[in-house]
Amino acid sequence: MAQTAAQPADQNPMHIHSLHTRTCGELRRDNIGETVTLTGWVWRRRDHGGLIFCDLRDREGLTQCTFDPEHAAGDAFHTAETMRSEWPILVHGTVIARDPETVNAKLATGEIEVLVDHIQVLNRSQTPPFQIEDGIETAEDTRLRYRYLDIRRPEMMANLRLRSDFTFAMRRALHDRAFTEVETPMLFKSTPEGARDFIVPSRLQPGSFYALPQSPQLLKQLLMVGGVERYYQVAKCFRDEDLRADRQPEFTQVDVEMSFVDQDDVMGALEDVLSDAFAQVGVDMPTPLRRISYWDAMDTYGTDKPDTRYGMHLHDVTQIFSGSKFKLFANAAATDGQYVKALNAKGAGTWPRAKIDKLADVAAQFGAKGLAWIAFRADGSVNSPIVKFFSDDEMAALKAEMQVEDGDLVMFAAADRKLADEILGGMRCHMADALEVPREGHDFLWVVNFPLFHWDDERKAYASEHQPFTQPVEEDIDRLESDPLSVGSYTYDFVMDGFEAGGGGMRIHNADLQMRVLKLLGFTEERAEEQFGFLMEALKFGAPPMGGFALGLDRVCMLLAGKDSIRDVMAFPKTSSGSDLMSSAPSEVSLAQLKEVSLRLM
Ligand code: AMO
Ligand code: AMP
Repeated sequence: MAQTAAQPADQNPMHIHSLHTRTCGELRRDNIGETVTLTGWVWRRRDHGGLIFCDLRDREGLTQCTFDPEHAAGDAFHTAETMRSEWPILVHGTVIARDPETVNAKLATGEIEVLVDHIQVLNRSQTPPFQIEDGIETAEDTRLRYRYLDIRRPEMMANLRLRSDFTFAMRRALHDRAFTEVETPMLFKSTPEGARDFIVPSRLQPGSFYALPQSPQLLKQLLMVGGVERYYQVAKCFRDEDLRADRQPEFTQVDVEMSFVDQDDVMGALEDVLSDAFAQVGVDMPTPLRRISYWDAMDTYGTDKPDTRYGMHLHDVTQIFSGSKFKLFANAAATDGQYVKALNAKGAGTWPRAKIDKLADVAAQFGAKGLAWIAFRADGSVNSPIVKFFSDDEMAALKAEMQVEDGDLVMFAAADRKLADEILGGMRCHMADALEVPREGHDFLWVVNFPLFHWDDERKAYASEHQPFTQPVEEDIDRLESDPLSVGSYTYDFVMDGFEAGGGGMRIHNADLQMRVLKLLGFTEERAEEQFGFLMEALKFGAPPMGGFALGLDRVCMLLAGKDSIRDVMAFPKTSSGSDLMSSAPSEVSLAQLKEVSLRLM
């Protein structure tokens, strides 16, 4: 079982009285001869006729306990015969050396065993629905239904303790730098972060609703107006959105805000805090962190959260095909804002044609209408549906630009800049997984200078790239109304191993500017007043310059634990349909409860 950094195995960390004198993870050679009391769950039990061996498990590890009828007092041996898996027991006995041939070098306690004289059965257990062990294949639904048993598994326990250690490290790093933790309400007004709100009906004010905060964004800005200057909070956030492996409807941020600062001050403070906290869990985050601008990240990696542990850069090959006979590319080259971009996946050029053809379906998930490709076979031949249209010069230029070798697969996207980037960015990740491109250690960087807005085609409106309170770049403010998409912002995302692990920015601290931005986002003055009037009013009372950040705690812990899903670092996560399988939430409520809050179901 993994021992966490905060809990050295060779000393009892708990100076608190409990039923046991030692844990199941701490006994070593040096303890031989000691009398000890251990508590834990019966893990594996082996009955060797005359002797019974039982691995006793608690959160610190496991210890082999031996029941010898010659040694055990009273009916201890008989009790050991009847006990079953997952019964919690207490044993009292003596630490003895194992026979040399039974020493288990892989186990921290593998040199010793406890020869039991007394046993007390603390409770019994039904047969668990799955084996309590690491690396289980059990369906996740079953694990979630019996989450308390799943948490008994050493790897889950290690994840929770890693999360606790890292959260504590963040708290300590922030506290040491004079940040004040302030709790903000859960029952509040809508705080838009781009998702739907969870709403809570008010009993005392029929027909009125609270919204659970999508983040403490507005409240932390108000704390800056209140003079708190350096705020943080380990904050629960609620967002009603479609769930994915890295998204839950309720999740946790380490939320930070500072005032009387500029962007470099905030980013510098965050680098300092983060590298301190990571160091406390044994992870080196060298500072200063690399900064990549939003468009450089998009153009080179096809995403605003690049994993830079491997290359596979996107290339702009538009000019190569400006006069091409391949009309799709020539037309793109001739159209303003259209690009031809290419990606070289080394090693995939030897894939059979049918496998390559299937890549178009993958590309379609990222918005592609088709996926042109060229396979450079190992024998020097070329296979492709499109090369017949290419001139020798075009082919030579392409090969030089993409540094083509035998065995390469070059893929193309012809589309507007962002879409072409996103398609090949998606393919880059897909191919890296398919080709098992190695990604070792952790990768940390900032993506900076996001545009203030993007165009939301579904809503036919401008939408905030980060959130509506972000400060536009000073020199661009004049163009807010005339050319909104060209306006930059003071923003930064913290990217870890190809995940958006955090994000933040400087805030608008002027009420008039805030109103201009809200209007561009489609708010009428009345609606803006109704929803954000309290913020704009506060900004009129001497709001200081401010900026901040929120770290996605679940995502960072997932990456630290080397897991693929944030569910593995959350004690009680929800399924993709938003259910808690243990309690069956969400569930119906009684008519009386509905009536109390003046609601009727449709
Ligand atoms: P943002 O919306 O980018 O910023 O959220 C910050 C970080 O929170 C994590 N995150 C999530 N984690 C799990 N499940 C989710 N549904 C989820 N949504 C977001 C991500 C993300 O980077 N108020 C701003 C911060 C600021 O500007 O200070 C905010 O909430 O890791
Ligand atoms: P077509 O001329 O439509 O038969 O397409 C020729 C090849 O180009 C096929 O392999 C298509 O999948 C691919 N293709 C079609 N549209 C695009 C596009 N926008 N970008 C890249 N490849 C495309």
